[in-house]
Amino acid sequence: MDRQLSPTRPAAEPETRNNADWWRQAAVYQIYPRSFADANHDGLGDLPGVTSRIGYLKELGIDAIWLSPFYPSALADGGYDVDDYRNVDARLGTLADFDTMVAAAHEAGLKVIVDVVPNHSSNRHRWFSEALASAPGSPERARYHFHEGLGEQGELPPSDWPSHFGGPAWTRVTESTGANAGDPGQWYLHLFASEQPDLNWENPEVREDFHTTLRFWADRGVDGFRVDVAHALAKDMSLPLRSKPSLQILLDDGTDPLFDRDEVHEIFAGWRQVLNEYDPPRAAVAEAWVPFTHRRLKYAQPTGLGQAFNFDLLQAPFDAGEFRGIVASCLAEAAASGASSTWVFSNHDVIRHPSRYALPDGTDAQALDAWLLNGGTHPQPDPARGLRRARAATLFMLGLPGSAYLYQGEELGLFEVADLPLDALEDPTWFRTGNRIKGRDGCRVPLPWDAGQENHGFGGTPWLPQPAWFAAHAVTEQDGVPGSTLELYRDALAWRRKLQAAESLEWLSASGDPLLHYRRPNGWEVLTNFGTEPAPLPVSAEASRIVLASGPVARPPQQIPGETTLWLAP
Ligand code: NOJ
Repeated sequence: MDRQLSPTRPAAEPETRNNADWWRQAAVYQIYPRSFADANHDGLGDLPGVTSRIGYLKELGIDAIWLSPFYPSALADGGYDVDDYRNVDARLGTLADFDTMVAAAHEAGLKVIVDVVPNHSSNRHRWFSEALASAPGSPERARYHFHEGLGEQGELPPSDWPSHFGGPAWTRVTESTGANAGDPGQWYLHLFASEQPDLNWENPEVREDFHTTLRFWADRGVDGFRVDVAHALAKDMSLPLRSKPSLQILLDDGTDPLFDRDEVHEIFAGWRQVLNEYDPPRAAVAEAWVPFTHRRLKYAQPTGLGQAFNFDLLQAPFDAGEFRGIVASCLAEAAASGASSTWVFSNHDVIRHPSRYALPDGTDAQALDAWLLNGGTHPQPDPARGLRRARAATLFMLGLPGSAYLYQGEELGLFEVADLPLDALEDPTWFRTGNRIKGRDGCRVPLPWDAGQENHGFGGTPWLPQPAWFAAHAVTEQDGVPGSTLELYRDALAWRRKLQAAESLEWLSASGDPLLHYRRPNGWEVLTNFGTEPAPLPVSAEASRIVLASGPVARPPQQIPGETTLWLAP
């Protein structure tokens, strides 16, 4: 008879990771604050909402929370347009609420990571207002990248650089002072939305101010930082500006005009000195979409931020060969940098992984965008398969050495909300591409906590509408239900503490095998069948060793079902 395994979950152990290396194999849970829990019922999640759910997070079994920006912001880019780096958005709470949240997290044994957004401020930051009110060439403008336009009247942007969200990366200002007051004048650079002017990291004042920001939050007890677009801070702005018609294609030798330049590491060496003023030193993880392993590892050096995201598994198809190759190269990269590896399948910028895996094999990034725009309805093309694969992939990943970054709602098996009403969309991508690319709102829909309550227990009317199918994914529907995705995550995160050992693994399966089988140094084993057909179990996989399965397995198991992961105790 097929049935879900229901192992006896190990009891939580007293906090043993209160040391400088806590981040190396941490399970970090990303909170997108506006969509997590809404304590004051205004439709936006808030910091008291986070505090109210610390018990849930502790029970989930994570080690740390990472909060996406909660700073004052007009939300032109979901908070990644920061008005003031050292304050809390009044809609999300106060600094006192932040302190309360940190205290509650620490009391529960959870570390707290906050997002820093150094590539750009918002256009409502005091510095940008001062820049607009000042003349070309002024120190106020020198905190950003203001340039004269090309063409006889300066009517053309200074370069052909596009913005990440569509349209040009330059916006022209109307001068407000001097002889040209009232006339179109200089252009400023924004690699993202026009509300996100890029800061000039050549300027010592900018560098010093971010040191102040790091200390501000570290002094409030923050344990680590996630560094937004870390690879973009250093730029070659020497004239004439070099052509770069695509932001997707990077040079791999540190000479790209906009990304991953060698000088960026001087900036992070300075950050590391600040982070090391604390005991234990504050952790940091670079968001650097750098596809080259030899370049990415520089961000993860102990003299730099210390850790870097890799998005390789996130971008890979559900395929044994692809997964094996990525794990091998990321572990080698981590070893070479002195860091631990990071793993991630979902975050606030990508289509949730059960939905990605529900789409036909071979669906590429463009086809994903097209699916969202044209065919994005729920149910997904094959939701059962999507979730089955997502659970198998997650269990495969949670057994790996290194840090696992989880995105809120993935523990509930949430799919992308692909059919949000168009008039609800807020992602700047939607507007800046002339409504051609829908963007990232579908993974940011507020969480369903309680199927029986209004707004699924989130709070007030959510800023993005929740679909009716969210009810089946609510915490109340999964809590204590054997086989639910929530219970699977709880089991996995509890067993993970036992499974973690030295940061290495040994492959037991042959390369080319659709079944991946690895062993950690303390004898724990993980097996994933990436194929769709059941595969024979290796002899070593005695039934008594199986503590966890991502899907139903027969008892005693003869085979490992397709698209399923098993964990074997030593
Ligand atoms: C990366 C963040 O994850 C994303 O949400 C944001 O839009 C860009 N950086 C710009 O800050």
